[in-house]
Amino acid sequence: MIYGIGTDICDIRRIQASLERHGERFAAKVLSDAEMATWKARSARWPERGVRYLATRFSAKEAFSKAIGLGMRMPMTWRLCEIGKLPSGQPVIVLHGVLKEWFEAKGLSAHITVTDESEYAASFCVVETSSTVRP
Ligand SMILES: CC(C)(COP(=O)(O)OP(=O)(O)OC[C@H]1O[C@@H](n2cnc3c(N)ncnc32)[C@H](O)[C@@H]1OP(=O)(O)O)[C@@H](O)C(=O)NCCC(=O)NCCS
Repeated sequence: MIYGIGTDICDIRRIQASLERHGERFAAKVLSDAEMATWKARSARWPERGVRYLATRFSAKEAFSKAIGLGMRMPMTWRLCEIGKLPSGQPVIVLHGVLKEWFEAKGLSAHITVTDESEYAASFCVVETSSTVRP
């Protein structure tokens, strides 16, 4: 049964502006350690791809935060929600710490999809529950 859905659209120029203002500190607030390593590698090779990577992660995390009904409130935090990748390229939600515990205790599972165009990144998330009783 569907537990919740969430969507988000992110203006890539705003992410660019935050990066210009706060530098790596901004990326480190939003990205997990594994994502940070990917972001650094992409930014080093092609800075624009780094900004896009950060924008799609930003929108996916916000979409997930809405699908679980918490928004950016504990136990939901930017860094505890990681957007990983399957060998096929499909994005997957990988949770850590107290967020992972909270999510698993509720018997939830998540599906995420992301997209970006010249100026925007957008994401859509579906969270399912193994329970047949409405939350
Ligand atoms: C959910 C959240 C991450 C979205 O913030 P945002 O990127 O600035 O705004 P967006 O335009 O992308 O999304 C806003 C929409 O998210 C939805 N939303 C808000 N809280 C939500 C929640 N807990 N669960 C699911 N959806 C939520 C609402 O539909 C809202 O639109 P509305 O205000 O017109 O009804 C943000 O509102 C948040 O973190 N909220 C929790 C923290 C909070 O509420 N702090 C203030 C305490 S009073």
